[in-house]
Amino acid sequence: MSRKTILDVDTGTDDAVAILVAALHPDLDLIGVTTVSGNVPVENTTDNTLRVLDLINRSDIPVFPGLAHPIARRGFPGQRHFTPGTKGDMHGISLPLPEARTAAQSTSAVEYLLETLRRTTEQLTLVAVGPLSNIATAATIDPSIRDAVDDLVVMGGAHAHGNVTASAEFNVWADPEAANMVFSAGFPRLTLVTLDATHQALITRKDCATFAALETPAGHAAADLISRRIDAYSANHGARIAETAPVHDAVCVAYLLRPDIVTTRHLHVTVDTTGPVTVGRTVFDMRPNATGTPNAHVAFTADARMLVGLLVETWAHGQRSLRVPGDLTG
Ligand code: RIB
Ligand code: CA
Repeated sequence: MSRKTILDVDTGTDDAVAILVAALHPDLDLIGVTTVSGNVPVENTTDNTLRVLDLINRSDIPVFPGLAHPIARRGFPGQRHFTPGTKGDMHGISLPLPEARTAAQSTSAVEYLLETLRRTTEQLTLVAVGPLSNIATAATIDPSIRDAVDDLVVMGGAHAHGNVTASAEFNVWADPEAANMVFSAGFPRLTLVTLDATHQALITRKDCATFAALETPAGHAAADLISRRIDAYSANHGARIAETAPVHDAVCVAYLLRPDIVTTRHLHVTVDTTGPVTVGRTVFDMRPNATGTPNAHVAFTADARMLVGLLVETWAHGQRSLRVPGDLTG
């Protein structure tokens, strides 16, 4: 039986790849997608999500627009600033995919999460790969919804170093109060896939050629989107990352299908919400005599080859397409 899953996304390039797996793998039943402001404003994360689902003929999956701002901050940047149109612009405001043919639902993401998690008679899986604004709001309105979730899988946090500041990973930094609330909300299981893990699952240009050679819409789209990430990482990080890129959010979906793709430690995690230099930093209590009760299974490693194998397996069976050269390059 396929696993009923909801994705919460701020679609950008890596969220798009996560959707391509979640919507197409037969072992997952993606019942809904909620969007949030993050990589780009929520109007664009919603539009980008619709573009991805339309492209693979999965417009049957409803998309619910979510929060436009972090829950406790106004005038906080909350979004990434890449210079538009440059090689370092990882996501662009709109993904380079054909325009969406379908529209988002009129129900908001928070209402959808509350209704669905209150009504369900079986536990669902929730994968959150953007700032945690929607999840924190829903769990604050009705804390009992946590019991309807068998695993809340979050892409967020970092131990060795951040990506938006030296201390902080983007999703946690963009709404640190929300992240703290979610980590302490008492979900039966919370799996946190950190940057430390996703930066081990680097995708190469050769992998992109393999995805494109599958000759499926998903394979072509993933090849283009990940190539764009590799261009941006090469421009932003130079030789240190050497013609590869992490595809953070896809690791979370891959973990549902192959749990051994990551290795985890059960730890107590909190988020710094006040430090002028460290706001958004995830603090993992790794002391042998740690005092807090563990609240997250934290992934610090991930297997790149296992990830690539799963992506190929997922996209190989899609509808085949003969591509017009350049049709996805925007
Ligand atoms: O730090 C990586 C995360 O930030 C990813 O989820 C990416 O899509 C952005 O939201
Ligand atoms: Ca994301």
